[in-house]
Amino acid sequence: MTPAAFIAALPKAELHMHIEGSIEPELFLELAERNRVEVRWKDVDSLRAAYDFQNLQSFLDLYYDGCRVLLNAQDFHDVTRAYLKRAHADGVIHAEMFLGPQGHTERGVALGTALDGVLSAMRAAEHEDGLSSGLILLAQRHRSEEEALEMFEQAMPWREHLLGFGLGGAEVGNPPSKFARFFAQCRERGFRVVAHAGEEGPAAYVREAVELLHVDRIDHGNASIGDEALLRLLAASQTPLTVCPLSNLRLKVSKDLASHALPKLLDAGLCVTLNSDDPSFFGGYINDNYLQCQQAYGWSPAQLVQLARNSLLASFLPQARRLEEVARLDAFAALAPQQWSAV
Ligand code: ADE
Ligand code: ZN
Repeated sequence: MTPAAFIAALPKAELHMHIEGSIEPELFLELAERNRVEVRWKDVDSLRAAYDFQNLQSFLDLYYDGCRVLLNAQDFHDVTRAYLKRAHADGVIHAEMFLGPQGHTERGVALGTALDGVLSAMRAAEHEDGLSSGLILLAQRHRSEEEALEMFEQAMPWREHLLGFGLGGAEVGNPPSKFARFFAQCRERGFRVVAHAGEEGPAAYVREAVELLHVDRIDHGNASIGDEALLRLLAASQTPLTVCPLSNLRLKVSKDLASHALPKLLDAGLCVTLNSDDPSFFGGYINDNYLQCQQAYGWSPAQLVQLARNSLLASFLPQARRLEEVARLDAFAALAPQQWSAV
């Protein structure tokens, strides 16, 4: 079996992807036309050519601007359904997705409009493909904590449909500590909490996310490799990291996979998972992330199974379902080859 075939068949969870970051150029242009939104790009090729980023901010500028094509519940439905179909085809058995409400409400799109579309697509994926999914709302960290708290209150009518809350956007200069009250509130009200940390920001931000915000998972976390004591803490607590290798290359967090933090994080015994972040912008969905890492690091089938196991254990699925899925993965691994063959 080839690594590509093995990865496609590997049952796994995706835990770090942004719905707004999964709009493929074709759908983007279709939505722009459908909603009569003026955009700078006239065709797919010129749009793809614009996906040439210098850093996180240069990406965020394009990403937030691109959100303008999302206006109606049907638009949010179409984008979410397209991602979930692709994830299902990639062997994903459970997906936890991010949505950033502030990027929509600031344009006059009601939170309910966005959520109606996203939630109906999640139900369709469950019904049609048996793919379960969860939704995490992200606060934009360049905005104030007050605005994050407002977003939280606005979301309460949908609380039963939400897994949790998180933090995304421009990291440097906006440390986790800025959102301590917001995270305390989310946790008090029974939600799971995650935060992007250590993507462009320092190891100290990862530490703050763990010690001050008490996050259930760290999104990215690459910078942790610069702090041995932090690595020991993350290994001891088994706080999962949702690492996004192809995103890190596109946003120039890492020059290449050879110098990427991933091998060090794994060697330090952390619960590392692989994810796509913003797949349509970064040149790859989850299986592309698994495959390019397998090729760069020469991973064996057993090492890929370990990453898939981490993704299931790090998910926010109820314990019984998590264990059921891990047992299914073990059954898959028992029948799978121990070594690669050409075909
Ligand atoms: N929002 C979408 N993608 C992001 C990323 N890679 N980092 C921070 N915020 C984001
Ligand atoms: Zn992200």
